Amino acid sequence: MPADPSALAAVAAALRAGQLVAFPTETVYGLGARASDPLAVRQIFAAKGRPVDHPLIVHLADAAEVEAWVDRGRLPDGGATLDALAATFWPGPLTLVVPRAPGVPDEVTGGMDTVGLRVPAHPLARALIAAAGGGLAAPSANRFGRVSPTTAAHVRAELGPDLLILDGGPCAVGVESTILDLCDPEGPALLRPGGLPAEALVAALVARGRPPLPLPVGRRRASGTLAAHYAPRTALRLAADPEAEAAPLRAAGHRVATLRSGGDLAAYAQRLYAELRALDLAGVDLLIAELAPELGLGAAINDRLRRAVVGSGGAPEPAA
Ligand code: TXA
Ligand code: MG
Repeated sequence: MPADPSALAAVAAALRAGQLVAFPTETVYGLGARASDPLAVRQIFAAKGRPVDHPLIVHLADAAEVEAWVDRGRLPDGGATLDALAATFWPGPLTLVVPRAPGVPDEVTGGMDTVGLRVPAHPLARALIAAAGGGLAAPSANRFGRVSPTTAAHVRAELGPDLLILDGGPCAVGVESTILDLCDPEGPALLRPGGLPAEALVAALVARGRPPLPLPVGRRRASGTLAAHYAPRTALRLAADPEAEAAPLRAAGHRVATLRSGGDLAAYAQRLYAELRALDLAGVDLLIAELAPELGLGAAINDRLRRAVVGSGGAPEPAA
């Protein structure tokens, strides 16, 4: 995506002046403020309607910038795993939760003693972080509990016309980053499946001598792990074969829309939220979305679909 230098400069200037802006990443659009500016960060929670004890991810332009944010001495291995995973997967859709450095504001961490860090792969995101002078605290740029935005138009629909948005086109990955907790003395734990498949993380950890087991699911709370999240307003049901489920309901007079994988998980993840949004506006009684195989990106797709069901507008009838 070619950056319009004047747009980038204007958005960076707004950040330096303590304002909120929306910016593209490869996963979803973020609603950012300078992470070192507690007053600016507080506005994020007001704009999203998000509880203030939910921590934010700090987005960095380069892995070398982690030193300002992490307290390495409190990592179980002094940061060796952090460095190895950062070298392998950054820039990319991986957030690493580490002990926070002393100066990291409580507003960013929700008062916790840890901080989530990631270097996004979108070139405009990294250019903006650099131009703004350092780490940007940013959640997804949607109202709390709703579907994350993957285009600038979605951000505008969620947060209104006054917000400054850096338009980087549609997000390439389409689901949020994978979150890995590196603070547990028993080893890395998965807090949220996401755009980086867990299998890739396991392979990297095995290369460092860990047994080839699935990642344990972490105990630390992450707001994206609330049961109800990513929710459309229309009732949503999941099925292995959405058309087969839809046929008898349509025959009985119900208006039913289906969302299908097309057999390509990367493409399904990329368009998942845009399609949920579009179908949510289609005025149907029920959406039926296809469950993916529980492999690779399928784990993140299914995670988001299951949470979307819990928060969707009206309990779907149990599948027959
Ligand atoms: O792909 C992404 O991760 C996107 C883009 C914008 O980078 N961001 C995103 O942010 O999804 P958000 O705030 O919607 O979700 C971040 C998740 C939340 O569930 C939050 O609880 C968790 O990260 N998180 C952040 N810092 C944490 C920490 N110190 N410990 C545990 N969880 C943390
Ligand atoms: Mg979010």
